Amino acid sequence: MNEMTSMKAPPSNKAEIVDVPFAFRDLVARHSPGGRYIDAQTDVDSPWVPFGENAAIKHLAFDVRSNTFSNILWVKSAGAVGTHLHRGTIVMVCLEGSVRYLEYDWVASPGGLILEVPGESHTLVTDHPDGVKLFGWMQGPIEFYDENGVFVETADVWWFMNHYETYCRENGIAINPKLYL
Ligand SMILES: [Fe+2]
Repeated sequence: MNEMTSMKAPPSNKAEIVDVPFAFRDLVARHSPGGRYIDAQTDVDSPWVPFGENAAIKHLAFDVRSNTFSNILWVKSAGAVGTHLHRGTIVMVCLEGSVRYLEYDWVASPGGLILEVPGESHTLVTDHPDGVKLFGWMQGPIEFYDENGVFVETADVWWFMNHYETYCRENGIAINPKLYL
């Protein structure tokens, strides 16, 4: 192996738990929100919540400290999500179908990574007959504007949390504490 590219860590050919001597373990135990697994393939951890006529959102995480929210956006057939302006940073992965923005020249397909940065405004369109499923890890407010460029609404961690909790309340679904970081 090339010295410049090989890792110094030993090869992990043994699957066993090692007792790592981390000095702050007690603090971690007392203060860390903890890592976790959210099942995104079924509705066990989080239901599909209607988002307009042709879309739904599966909420996966809310972190109020950094105004971060994670979800899967499912546009169920060819359609659009109106023009919006980002005040934070967005990471998305196309899971199924395809999606593009009217403002850009690329089309995202399954496995593709989409990065969006503060100050960008754009209009999401899917031309795919089955629409698109997009996993998103999103930070910061998203401002929606109407066709005249007039501000309509801000979607932030509180908006997404309210979207989730309202649906759960109306449908007798228990709020899942795992979604709150
Ligand atoms: Fe966006």
